Amino acid sequence: MSNQSKYALSEKNMAIAKEIFPEGKLSSADMKKVPLFYAKAKGSKVYDIDGNEYIDYFLGNGPLILGHCHDEVVSAIKEQAEKGINFGGHSEISLKFAQKICDSVKSIERMRYTSTGTEATYYAIRIARAYTKRDYILRFEGAYHGHHNLALMSSKMKHASIDLLKKYPIPDTRPYVDSAGIPNDEADKVFIAPFNNIERLEEILEKHGDKIACVMVEPVQRYIEPKDDFLKKVRELTKKYGILMILMFFDEIVTGFRLAPGGAQQYYGVDADITALGKITGGGFPHGVIGGPKEIMDKVFDPTSDQYVFHAGTFSGNAIACAAGYTQVSVLERDDLYERLHYLGKKIREGIREVLNKTGLPYRVYGVGPMWHFSFIDKDIIDYRSSLFANKSLADKIVTKMYDKGVLCSLGRNYISAVHSDEDIDKTIEIFEESVKETLREEKKNV
Ligand SMILES: Cc1ncc(COP(=O)(O)O)c(C=O)c1O
Repeated sequence: MSNQSKYALSEKNMAIAKEIFPEGKLSSADMKKVPLFYAKAKGSKVYDIDGNEYIDYFLGNGPLILGHCHDEVVSAIKEQAEKGINFGGHSEISLKFAQKICDSVKSIERMRYTSTGTEATYYAIRIARAYTKRDYILRFEGAYHGHHNLALMSSKMKHASIDLLKKYPIPDTRPYVDSAGIPNDEADKVFIAPFNNIERLEEILEKHGDKIACVMVEPVQRYIEPKDDFLKKVRELTKKYGILMILMFFDEIVTGFRLAPGGAQQYYGVDADITALGKITGGGFPHGVIGGPKEIMDKVFDPTSDQYVFHAGTFSGNAIACAAGYTQVSVLERDDLYERLHYLGKKIREGIREVLNKTGLPYRVYGVGPMWHFSFIDKDIIDYRSSLFANKSLADKIVTKMYDKGVLCSLGRNYISAVHSDEDIDKTIEIFEESVKETLREEKKNV
């Protein structure tokens, strides 16, 4: 038998990549466990340049809810490419898609396109500040809202540890800034609260509400579900505190068109003031949306108003992204695929639970709709800090083994597409079980 690594070609390319890309990565968010170079993808599968096949739960970082290279999406892209790629102005497809978005997400009556999710959350803050004439924002620790300065405040603590967290006690509303290059004083305008802790939120809003422009919410924070009507209670509090209402901003870049056509707002029955969409809306192309009710959007986009918000972007309304996104969300709705997405999510979560039950180890399995996550932990994960008690190194070893056996998934939140088959899920659970058993055997040996 050859001793050659099954990733030999990928490894060779990675050596070259490391000479060009810092850390050998395309971005800091690349969490792959082995150095993978992709060759092609179709449906629920991706193939690396060594010819290995994987069931994919990354789905291009989340946008490909119909799987890779869905025939109708690819046709729409080709058709649009023949007609025009980026007009820098309105086109039939950018209008048709905007109508669809407004029809699907009840709280969006007016909208603008952006080119990424990060850009959409950036504009959400600018709009909220302009509309309320206040500078402060409140966000929840551990949420990810993209990579601009304010989006990164207390998003993830580098080298997080329980000891380090003691330096930043929970009652402290001041964020930590975890990327160099962000001026510390930008943190002066940010309040931080723990997710799912309505009492703490109320305390901060009671004290500082008249300074706060918006509360930024990732409705399912990473994989952490909102508990006990948390989102509805945030809605109530944002209406109660502040002289003018504090705006509630929903970052639906992950949940939009994923949990339901109307996103988390439809799924949880809460309307936001400002909504950011992305990922699925680009059908695999860079894309984002920032939207809200007429009262807010017309006010801040009125050039005669002193609350006027400047917004621009070379690629706003890019025709290819709109054609891909429009087709993707239309197919989801036309074929009523939401039921299937929720079914597949439940199936994989139940399968994983069954496997972990047999280990006798404390664990939690999370996920809403077509998303899944597992952690080895003996208490519920309700916010960022509780997630830090998980045994990440054990989960990491299991996930790495899953790569070797043909499943790509992460320690964080994993995505399922509507074209993952029942067999894909069964095979994934089988591979998960093998990987868990092998890892635990090895752990025992090493004691
Ligand atoms: C909730 C959330 N908001 C914002 C973003 C940023 O979107 P983008 O990567 O398109 O800039 C992401 C990306 O993963 C996200 O998950």
